[in-house]
Amino acid sequence: MRLEGRVAVITGAGSGIGAASAVAMAAEGARVVVADINEAAAKAVTEQIEKAGGTALAVRADVSRAADNQLLVEKALAAWGRLDVFFANAGVPQFPTPIEAQDEATFDRIIAVNVKGVWLGAKYALAVMKQQKRGVFLVTASTAAIRPRPGGQTYAASKGAVVTLTKSLALESAPHGVRVVAIAPVATETPMLPTFMGKTEVDAEGMARYRATVPLGRLNQPEDIARAAVFLASDDAAMITGSCVEVDGGRCI
Ligand SMILES: NC(=O)c1ccc[n+]([C@@H]2O[C@H](COP(=O)([O-])OP(=O)(O)OC[C@H]3O[C@@H](n4cnc5c(N)ncnc54)[C@H](O)[C@@H]3O)[C@@H](O)[C@H]2O)c1
Repeated sequence: MRLEGRVAVITGAGSGIGAASAVAMAAEGARVVVADINEAAAKAVTEQIEKAGGTALAVRADVSRAADNQLLVEKALAAWGRLDVFFANAGVPQFPTPIEAQDEATFDRIIAVNVKGVWLGAKYALAVMKQQKRGVFLVTASTAAIRPRPGGQTYAASKGAVVTLTKSLALESAPHGVRVVAIAPVATETPMLPTFMGKTEVDAEGMARYRATVPLGRLNQPEDIARAAVFLASDDAAMITGSCVEVDGGRCI
């Protein structure tokens, strides 16, 4: 098992990519803090992990709040005495909207969750990891950071910001033996997908339009990202830091 004995915190772990990553990391031997603003969803994922024989703890947390990020780190340390992986995955999408029609409150919320949320996670998790002289801080960015789609300017900017944040944090963490890596998924089949498509539900038109932009001819399943996250969190990725790893079927070529 590639994460035997490790302790991982995963945000936005009540659904989609975060939930799949929590399940996958637990299956590789990690004890997982399943963090989400939706407490019921976090509990459901925790139960799924426990039923499969894994170890997990559900914690309600809004990543845009400093105290909640601090709590996540404290919960991991209190329960299991260490913090090996912090996966700053929680994020919110944007409905495609021209800039002139975009409202300021939407901008503020996207930046608060997608950028400040990652920054706060790093602030509290890296403090511990630097002291431990080991740890991996993972970030869910997006191909939108590299190859945006029209009308998604605020979301794209938020993900671009965390790719650069990742590189900067990787440099300051490297002397302490701590790695920081971003993952850039292309469109992934989670509850967030219809919003990106400008719809309330995924439909045949949306799927065809998106698939046509991916050279491998399909979208991600959450497990595609979870497998990348397990690899990047493990010692198999010991020389990978500061990278933005595209899991995108060739979208960014
Ligand atoms: N689905 C895609 O097409 C896609 C593509 C690229 C990147 N991403 C990114 O992947 C990450 C995960 O998204 P997903 O696709 O799994 O979506 P999802 O909607 O399935 O899951 C997102 C989870 O984050 C939680 N969340 C939202 N705001 C939060 C907050 N403030 N604090 C804590 N938890 C919060 C939600 O409750 C939900 O459980 C996000 O950062 C998203 O931007 C998604």
